[in-house]
Parts: sequence; C-alpha cells; structure tokens
Amino acid sequence: METITIAVLAGTARKQRMSIHAARYIADFGRALEGVEIIFVDPAELHLEGDGNDPEGKDPTYTAVTEKADAFFIVTPEYNHSFPGSLKRMLDSELANYNHKPVAFAGVSNGNWGGIRAVESLVPAVRETGLVVMSWDVYFPYIQKVFNDEGVVSEEHRERYEKQLGKLYAELIWFARILKDKK
Ligand SMILES: Cc1cc2nc3c(=O)[nH]c(=O)nc-3n(C[C@H](O)[C@H](O)[C@H](O)COP(=O)(O)O)c2cc1C
Repeated sequence: METITIAVLAGTARKQRMSIHAARYIADFGRALEGVEIIFVDPAELHLEGDGNDPEGKDPTYTAVTEKADAFFIVTPEYNHSFPGSLKRMLDSELANYNHKPVAFAGVSNGNWGGIRAVESLVPAVRETGLVVMSWDVYFPYIQKVFNDEGVVSEEHRERYEKQLGKLYAELIWFARILKDKK
C-alpha cells in the first residue's frame, strides 16, 4: 500500500506552550501507524515574513512540506476564542498545496472547553483553502493534567486518547487515500 504523508502542524510558537505536548503526542501516534509518514511542523522554526502568499512571504521548507503532504493534522490551542496568529500565518502562506487534501483537528486549552472555539473558527478558514474537514475532532481540555512536564501522557488519559486518535487517524487516512487516488 502506498505511504500516506501527514503533516502535523503545531498551532503556536509561544515559548511556554503546553499544546506542543499534544502536537508531539499526535505526531508520535501517527508514526506508529503502518503506511504513514509524519512530518512535524513547528511554527517556531519557520520564517514567514510579512503576510499573504506572495513568493517573498513563503518559507520554502513549509512550501515543500505542504506540497508533499497528502493530509494535515492541525493541533491548535485556543487564544481569545480563536486560533493563534502563527497558525493563520502558516495557513495563509500557501494555497494550491492544500487543495483537495483532508485535515483533522485537535483542540487544546487549560480549561473546560478544550479549544473547541479555536477549532470551530478554523473550519471556515481552512475550507477557503480547499482543505477537506473531518466531521469530528479530538479535544484536550485541562492540558496541564493530561501531560507531565516531559510531555508524557498520564495513565488516566492514555486509553481514551489512543482510542480517539486511532479513529480520527483512520478517517483522515481513508480520505487521504481516496483523494490522492483521484489526483
Ligand atoms: C493569548 C492567549 C489567549 C488565550 N485565550 C484562551 C481562550 O480564549 N480560551 C481558553 O480556553 N484558553 C485560552 N488561553 C489559555 C490556553 O488554553 C492555554 O495557554 C493552554 O495551555 C493552551 O495554549 P498554549 O499551547 O499556548 O499553552 C489563552 C492563552 C493565551 C496565551
């Protein structure tokens, strides 16, 4: 079976970010799946000048990732009831490379809502890029209780997230195979 390449996008470049634990956990989970290649994208390592998607506003590394990726998994914290600016900047910097590819979302917060408003506000933005949105998501409320400082998931939460991520990855890969086949 042909390998499916999934770009896992961390949603924030904030230095003290907790959501990076969820993003790395999701990437590691994907790496363990058969027939899947994961590319981890950290906005803190990108160089995106200005705004928009003009050639001078792109990062060639990110362009290459988006070109190669068959699917995307976006892991976003919630900032002021929306998603972070660095994630918007990444999304805006490309266009054609997103078209007709599926995207899954994970929301993260340190409170009760798990970043649901960030994910809901992502839906219309990514729809405009041509990404195909999955019909459900995974949420990490109280992120500080889910992972320890080393990013290890707590025993209490492990089974639940393994189950949910297994299902969501299966859906994402299903869409990726169908859409890749039609290219
Ligand atoms: C600028 C900013 C705005 C935030 N706004 C919200 C918010 O609207 N709703 C919410 O549940 N958490 C909000 N938070 C808290 C995040 O849920 C919390 O920082 C969590 O750890 C995930 O974000 P992080 O990856 O930056 O740590 C905000 C955090 C920051 C830094």
